[in-house]
Amino acid sequence: MLADDWWRHAVIYQVYPRSFADANGDGMGDLPGVISRLPYLADLGVDALWLNPFYASPQNDAGYDVADYRRVDDLFGTVADAEKLIESAHALGLRVIFDIVPNHTSSAHAWFVEALATPPGTGIWSRYHCVRGRGDDGQEPPNDWLSVFGGLAWTQIPDPASGDPTGWWYLHLFDTTQPDLNWDDPEVWAEHERVLRFWFDRGVDGFRIDVAHGLVKTEDYPMSGEQPGMYSLELDTPVLPQWDQPGVHEVYRAWRGIANSYDPPRTFCGEVVVPTPESHAMYLRPDELHTAFNFHYLRTRWDAAHLREVIDHSLATAGSVGAPCTWVLSNHDVRRHVTRLAPVESDGSVDLERGLARARAASMVMLALPGSAYLYQGEELGLPEVIDLPAEARQDPTFLRTAGEVIGRDGCRVPIPWEGTTPSFGFGPSEESWLPQPDFFAGLSVAAQTGVADSTLEMYRSALRIRKDQPGLGDGELEWLDSPPDVVAFARGSVTVVANMGDEPITWPTDAMLLASSPAVTFANGNVTVAPETAVWISGRR
Ligand code: NOJ
Repeated sequence: MLADDWWRHAVIYQVYPRSFADANGDGMGDLPGVISRLPYLADLGVDALWLNPFYASPQNDAGYDVADYRRVDDLFGTVADAEKLIESAHALGLRVIFDIVPNHTSSAHAWFVEALATPPGTGIWSRYHCVRGRGDDGQEPPNDWLSVFGGLAWTQIPDPASGDPTGWWYLHLFDTTQPDLNWDDPEVWAEHERVLRFWFDRGVDGFRIDVAHGLVKTEDYPMSGEQPGMYSLELDTPVLPQWDQPGVHEVYRAWRGIANSYDPPRTFCGEVVVPTPESHAMYLRPDELHTAFNFHYLRTRWDAAHLREVIDHSLATAGSVGAPCTWVLSNHDVRRHVTRLAPVESDGSVDLERGLARARAASMVMLALPGSAYLYQGEELGLPEVIDLPAEARQDPTFLRTAGEVIGRDGCRVPIPWEGTTPSFGFGPSEESWLPQPDFFAGLSVAAQTGVADSTLEMYRSALRIRKDQPGLGDGELEWLDSPPDVVAFARGSVTVVANMGDEPITWPTDAMLLASSPAVTFANGNVTVAPETAVWISGRR
C-alpha cells in the first residue's frame, strides 16, 4: 500500500490517450489500449499515471473541449473501461489521475446548446460570460482580451430566432468552441462538485486541473493591455484581469474539502501558469492544491547558473507553504525536451544528438530533485519533436486559428512507437495513426530499446529503480556542493548528483557509480570523469 502522502514524491507518467495505445485499430489511442500497456508502466517503475481528457467531446482541442464530463467519448471507450483502467492500475500498484477542465466547456455541452437557444443575457447564459459589446449596438467586442490560440477572445452571439447579430458576446480564452464558464454562478460550482465526486466515487486518485489559474475573471472585464500568451512564461509579467484572480483560491479550498472527505484522500495537481513562483505558491497553501506543475523549471535554459537559481527559488517558495515541488520537462503542450534543449546550429538546424544527450542529463537531474516529477509519454524513449508534419495532418487549433503562423503542438503528440519497423510501430493493430509517424521511430521503439544497455529507456528504468531504493532521493533535502560554474552538483541523502553543462570533461571523486546519462563516463582510481552534456548519480557525498 502506498502512503497517503504519495503525491509529495511520486513519479507520474503522463498518458496522452490519443497517442499511447490503440486497441481497436482506428488510429486513435483508447482506454482499452492504455489498460493493455499498464504492465509496461509498472515495469518502468513509475508510481502513477495521469490521463489527458477522454470525455465526450467534439475534439476541437483534442478533448479539452468537453461536452459531457461524465461520459467517455466513443473514440476512447466507455465509463466501464475507465473503471476497469482504475482497477487494473491499482492492482499493479499504480495510482490514477484524470484531467478536469473547469475553465470552459465545449460549445457542444448541453448548457451552451441551451444558452444559444435563449436570448443573450437571460437564463442559462449566466453560466457563461455573456457580455454586451461596446460601440453602436454592441458591435465591438467588450474588451481587448485575446484568445490563447490566436485572435479575439470574444464571439458575437446570434439571435436564436433570426440569426442576426445581437451585440452580445461570449468569452472564450481558447477556441471559439470552448466558451469560458462563469464561476460567479453557483450552479457552475455545484456541477463541478458532482463531476469530482462522480470520478472520485469510481476510485480515481486525483485530478490534474486544466487552466487552474483562469477560472475567475476580473469583474466588469477591464482592458488587458499587453497580453503575453498563456504559455510564454515570462517571469514578472503583469497580472492580467483574465488570469490568476484572488477569487480562484476559494474554488480550490472547496475542492480540497471534497478530496479530503475520501479515504484515501484524493489529490490535485494544478496547471497553474502565473508570472512568479510566489504567486504559484499561493495555490499550494495547505488547504488548496497538493501540487502544481513547475513550468518555470520546464523553461530553464541549458545553463548551470540558471538551473541552480530556478531550483533554489522553486524549493524556497513551495517550501514556504509546506508544499513539494512538481518538476516537469515535457508535456503535450510544449516541444519535447530533446528538441528544445538541442543546440541550434548557425543554419538554424538543431543538433539532435546533443539534444538527446542534454535531455537525458536533464531528466537525471530532475529525477533526483526533492518532490514529485512528471514524465511525458515517449520521453523515456528519447523521442524528439516531430517537426515536419504536413499541414493537412495538423489538428492543433493554434495552427488553424493562426493560419499556420504558429506551428502548434501536434509535433509532441505523435503516437508513440512500441515495436516493429513500419507504422504504426505497435501503436495499434493497423497501420493507422491519427498523426503520421516518422520512419526514425523504428529505432526508438520500446522493443528496440528494451534490454539494450545505455538506451534511453533502460536509463529511465534504472533511474526509477534507484530512486525507489535510495531513501534520500525523491523526498528530503537538497544540499548544493561546490563545483565549477558550468556544473550542477548536489547531494541527496547518500547520493551525489553531478551534471556537466559545460564544454570540457570534469572529474569528481567517488567510491561507486550508480548511474550515468551517457556511456561517455569513465570511472578509475576513485574518480569519475564526466563528459560534457552528461549527468551522473554517484554514491557518497563528496
Ligand atoms: C491546457 C491544456 O494542457 C491544453 O492542451 C489545452 O489546449 C488548454 N489548456 C485549453 O484547455
